Amino acid sequence: MVSMSFTSHKLFSILLTILFFCSTLAAAKSNHFARTLSPSSLGLKREKLSHLHFYFHDIVSGRNRTAVRVAQAATTNTSSTLFGMVVMMDDPLTTKPELSSKLVGRAQGIYASASQSETGLLMVVNFAFMEGKYNGSTLSVLGRNTVFSAVREFPVVGGSGLFRFSRGYAQAKTHNLDLRSGDAVVEYNVYVFHY
Ligand SMILES: *[C@@H]1O[C@H](CO)[C@@H](O)[C@H](O)[C@H]1NC(C)=O
Ligand SMILES: *[C@@H]1O[C@H](CO)[C@@H](O)[C@H](O)[C@H]1NC(C)=O
Ligand SMILES: *[C@@H]1O[C@H](CO)[C@@H](O)[C@H](O)[C@H]1NC(C)=O
Repeated sequence: MVSMSFTSHKLFSILLTILFFCSTLAAAKSNHFARTLSPSSLGLKREKLSHLHFYFHDIVSGRNRTAVRVAQAATTNTSSTLFGMVVMMDDPLTTKPELSSKLVGRAQGIYASASQSETGLLMVVNFAFMEGKYNGSTLSVLGRNTVFSAVREFPVVGGSGLFRFSRGYAQAKTHNLDLRSGDAVVEYNVYVFHY
């Protein structure tokens, strides 16, 4: 009887120990914060370089605007550079300079006048593509746009979908600017490394 109770007591404590180790292991597994992975475990093979070419349509006048002013400072209208103006855009991206040409995506984001001495915009934009295998993938761009310069360059800071892990740059060149309406067509060449 005594030895029996001793055995079951021992068994119980062994069980408890096993249980403790198991739960510790489980906790270690589910609570891991960071670990090292091999790129192949995410299906990443070889990094490649892609060139994207499209036209960006910024329509600020008429009935079908694609960019609207959403905020400004009290002093914006008296600033020669419209300092403080914030514009939200959903600008179509097409393969040719004509708005009626094939739509390949949209530039969705914000541009804001960030310079008091020249026309210099802060660009915070996601290029949301919808063409072929790029449909649903995005590139994120953050940069400075001195719109009257012949060529402006913006860093591509990342991407999603097909453009995961991407980095690169975008060059913008004004194709057409209607000074009266403010409507602009801008040619973009984007170079990105991605997998
Ligand atoms: C605005 O878009 C509509 C529908 O696509 C079109 O019929 C109309 O001509 C456009 N208006 C202007 C001013 O571009
Ligand atoms: C500033 O200019 C914009 C665009 O011309 C106009 O819509 C707005 O009413 C003006 N704001 C002030 C405070 O004058
Ligand atoms: C892109 O994907 C969306 C959602 O899956 C789909 O509705 C749309 O038709 C696709 N567009 C093109 C041009 O393939």
